Amino acid sequence: MSAAATASKKRKVLVTAALPYSNNRPHVGHLGGAYIPADIYVRYLRLAGADVRFVCGSDDHGVAIMITAEKEGKTPAEVANYYRAKQAEDFAGMGISFDIYSGTSVCPLHAAQSQRFFRHIHDKGYFEKQSSRQFYDEARAAFLPDRYVKGECGFCGTPDQNGDQCENCGKMLDVDSLKNARSVLSGEPAVVKDTVHWFLDLSRFGTEVERWLETAKVREQTKAYVSGLLSTGLVKRAMTRDLSWGIPVPLQDPDATGKVLYVWFDAPIGYISFSQELCQRAGQSASAADAWWRSDDAEVYHFIGEDNTVFHCIIWIAMLAAEGSTRLPNGVIVNHFFNMQLPGGAVEKISKSRGTAVWIGDYLEAGGDPDTLRYYLTSIASEKSRSVFKPDDLEHRHNGELADTLGNLVNRITSFTIKHCGPNVPEIDADKITDLDRALEAGLRSTFDDVTRELEGHSFKAALERVMQFARECNKYVDEKAPWSSRKTDMEATKVTLNYVLHAIHGLGVMLLPFIPGAASKIVGAFGRDLPSVQWLDAVEARLVGAPLSQPPILFQKLGAQPTQK
Ligand code: MF3
Ligand code: ZN
Repeated sequence: MSAAATASKKRKVLVTAALPYSNNRPHVGHLGGAYIPADIYVRYLRLAGADVRFVCGSDDHGVAIMITAEKEGKTPAEVANYYRAKQAEDFAGMGISFDIYSGTSVCPLHAAQSQRFFRHIHDKGYFEKQSSRQFYDEARAAFLPDRYVKGECGFCGTPDQNGDQCENCGKMLDVDSLKNARSVLSGEPAVVKDTVHWFLDLSRFGTEVERWLETAKVREQTKAYVSGLLSTGLVKRAMTRDLSWGIPVPLQDPDATGKVLYVWFDAPIGYISFSQELCQRAGQSASAADAWWRSDDAEVYHFIGEDNTVFHCIIWIAMLAAEGSTRLPNGVIVNHFFNMQLPGGAVEKISKSRGTAVWIGDYLEAGGDPDTLRYYLTSIASEKSRSVFKPDDLEHRHNGELADTLGNLVNRITSFTIKHCGPNVPEIDADKITDLDRALEAGLRSTFDDVTRELEGHSFKAALERVMQFARECNKYVDEKAPWSSRKTDMEATKVTLNYVLHAIHGLGVMLLPFIPGAASKIVGAFGRDLPSVQWLDAVEARLVGAPLSQPPILFQKLGAQPTQK
């Protein structure tokens, strides 16, 4: 096959992780929900030779940022810029390997792209312009969308509820069902006034969404949840808002004056505009991004937390179907939230105000190892249902699994080999190979096949468990073959043991690169491999006889045991 033909066969994959609102720094719930799984997948695909783009950035518009700005006495842009920079720092500290981290208020292509999208859907006649009743703050002369208004739930009487949904009974709230409504801006009672908006009737796209759901890669429970919503029928949703912060509605209509696009309309378009920005940064034209967004040869996957499901699996699909020029995503990978259990405490929701959030910035600042947190969050990943983050469990697993099972294996075998056989992976005498050795090699191969399959299926927790199961098999093999005693009687047999387990350790290193890139690159580095040249298949195909072996640093120091340094 010619080089060109080979190159054109390269899988093209675009991976996105949900764009976080830029009024907050990420905590462990965000990280484990979307960013770590997406990063594992991306790192795996890169190793497997795919042409991958990993796109993210902040979601800068909407009411959440405006409320923070109001509280902090800043402009929304100042708030967004501050938190965007912090988010980028926290994600980088955790080894999240975005190709771009932009923002919906700073990406130079985003406003025009969003307006083009809106106008296109408008020109096709899919929007319905309608007047509706909305809460209004007379002191501020401003309409009060979503979270700008608080009151009592008209269904169950719970006080202090947002304008859109009751946290207690889950019912949707509106101008009629939110009682004693007050403006969050002025604290004054909210009145009700008429305002005009552009609505997208989602029910017109029910069939498209249903068809998409049949073939899209989504987890079982996501599919069940979305199917359930489809069967109860889709509604009209306003795609515009009365706000001063956002992307202006791009219509000549005088009714559009002072209105902006609904934040959930412009935000997912960020996936496209940031991809275009990335192409431009690489010296290409923005339309180079079409190779992912418009070509059937490419794949697009969105990684999100559970609260974003409706927006990605229904509204975004309907928007794309309505706009028509962009392909639908191949998959939406949804994780559930974590709950938190602090030592001695009860299981509760992660909550900023109750102090149950573990912030990434704090974790890193305290000297926390990103690999440890990546490992722990993957091992408790809420892929099927909610799981519980327990800080003492993190320490326990770090010590037992990362330090003992993995780190110890790597360090004792490399140091033993270097000490007794010299600084190269030993050559072997084929006559000395036993069934135990062959079983270890077969174990490596079946691990590799299983891990590859789990990663392809977005089952990251199962993939990691499988790798660690093999690490335990390696320890068992070493214990059974006891090279420390065999070396006294049969050096040739000992070399076979070391050769086999070194191949297994190298394989572990390659397979762990997506999960714990820091420690895994030290493992691979011990074999003199330079990272960019490492490929996924090397886990089973690398022939390491004679490779220079160096003693890697201790991979994981035990936590909790020794007095803290500094
Ligand atoms: N900002 C939203 C959140 O934090 C996520 C937006 S994802 C995107 O929940 F699709 F809009 F990009
Ligand atoms: Zn209620």
